[in-house]
Amino acid sequence: MRKPIIVGNWKMNLTVSAAKKLAGDIEGDYKSDWVEKVEAVVCPTYLQISGVAGVLSGQIGLGAQDLFWEKEDGAYTGEVSAIMLKELGCKYVIIGHSERREYLGETDEMVGKKSQAALAADLTPIICIGESKEQREAGQTNEFLEKQLLAAIENIDQADIVRVIIAYEPIWAIGSGDPASPEDAEEVASLIREALTDKYSQAEAQQCQILYGGSAKADNIAGFIGQDNIDGALVGGASLDAEEFVGMLANVAKKND
Ligand code: 13P
Repeated sequence: MRKPIIVGNWKMNLTVSAAKKLAGDIEGDYKSDWVEKVEAVVCPTYLQISGVAGVLSGQIGLGAQDLFWEKEDGAYTGEVSAIMLKELGCKYVIIGHSERREYLGETDEMVGKKSQAALAADLTPIICIGESKEQREAGQTNEFLEKQLLAAIENIDQADIVRVIIAYEPIWAIGSGDPASPEDAEEVASLIREALTDKYSQAEAQQCQILYGGSAKADNIAGFIGQDNIDGALVGGASLDAEEFVGMLANVAKKND
């Protein structure tokens, strides 16, 4: 049985003090008996990670929104490595978010290298894939996503793939208030699991967690979690509101009772 996981991607929001307050509010409303039923993770900006780590007691996991692929210290101005994130208590790292691909030119090759660097440092990469509205309307969704997925995991071996999380985030659903239907998201999630089965084996593919992302919130999360191949959500806007985020956790915990 794969455990559901809800990951809050705080994106470029909040000052350090506001991030600590949000983490404290989430922690305060979190019910400790949810630990068995749903994994909760927050991913603040690099600047906020340390402060947020100081507020969390361990029942809510910590992740980063990106990392650089080089393992050793070096002349890479502005970048942050996996071991730096590990030291602060991160267990997860989001990689290849569509916003980074669009605004910062992140390529499939970079996403692959970053995912490997994460795994080498024992961080769980949350690899994001997703099609644009144009691609969906042109009927290219499945073909495009399969290509994006296989490029990202090209050099990840059989032993490591079970530690990878794949997040399906249709670009048109992000921040739009208009999520994909649970059925459409499930169609893609099952395609992802099929591609993982073909590249590795069924045993590995069945262990990988696959998330949906794009306008997920407390009142629609149950529909996604109810699908066979969707194991949780990567959440933007709704993760910035403690009540809404905790509401999502409560609804997933209830579903998994
Ligand atoms: P929203 O939940 O705001 O649509 O953002 C989704 C997302 O991009 C999470 O990574």
